[in-house]
Amino acid sequence: MGFAKAGRHEYQVQGVMEYIFKNSGALSSAYNSIVASGDNANTLHYVENNKLLKDGDLLLIDAGCEYQYYASDITRTFPINGKFSGAQKEIYEIVLKAQKSAFSVIKIAAKPSEIHKAACQEIIKGLIDLKFLNGSIDEHFNKTPSEFRDYYPHGTGHWLGLDVHDDNTYYQEDGTEMGLIAGSVFTVEPGIYLDHFRHNIPEKYRGIGVRIEDDIHITETGFENLSIDAPKEILEVEAACAINYNDFI
Ligand code: GLY
Ligand code: MN
Repeated sequence: MGFAKAGRHEYQVQGVMEYIFKNSGALSSAYNSIVASGDNANTLHYVENNKLLKDGDLLLIDAGCEYQYYASDITRTFPINGKFSGAQKEIYEIVLKAQKSAFSVIKIAAKPSEIHKAACQEIIKGLIDLKFLNGSIDEHFNKTPSEFRDYYPHGTGHWLGLDVHDDNTYYQEDGTEMGLIAGSVFTVEPGIYLDHFRHNIPEKYRGIGVRIEDDIHITETGFENLSIDAPKEILEVEAACAINYNDFI
């Protein structure tokens, strides 16, 4: 976050980050790093990583090292100039609330669909409050197809392990949904994507894309957030943006 300043390129940020992976003993990335500034964050698996970072834009990094054969998968979104704009903060806070709401239902046997529902309800509420959507939370959540999926078109999590989307099942042989198991790791990654061409929303929100992702280890008594040390609250993120990156390399 301290290195990613206007005038540098997405690939330079990728280079420094992947250097830190290797220098810390993790010999490879778990998948192609997504280093997406501004509107590029609205391309979910953006891997070009070739644009110039611009003052006033956010940078979304979705990346994870592989350590001793195990994958990690973390997303943080932060301001390139070190301070969130009002509009960026509003969107960021909805995504953060959605993630916390998803955490609140996580326990042994909780179903991925329950985690997803908790996150979606908070995102829909935020989009209604911003007047991007009309109607009620339930109405939007229960409708198929639903307009809110234009803003949040992916799932809230996946199994994580030897692979980034680990090869575990979501449905058991009897067709019922698989619940979380102690010892397993599941990601929680809500987001809101406001492409630059979205003319139905005020201009100040266009081009904002925010995702926040943590790696959650399910335990007998609850869960442990394995990626908690990556700054996430607004003030923590802004403080991290001001840190001299030389401290890390
Ligand atoms: N890290 C990218 C994904 O979960 O699809
Ligand atoms: Mn993920």
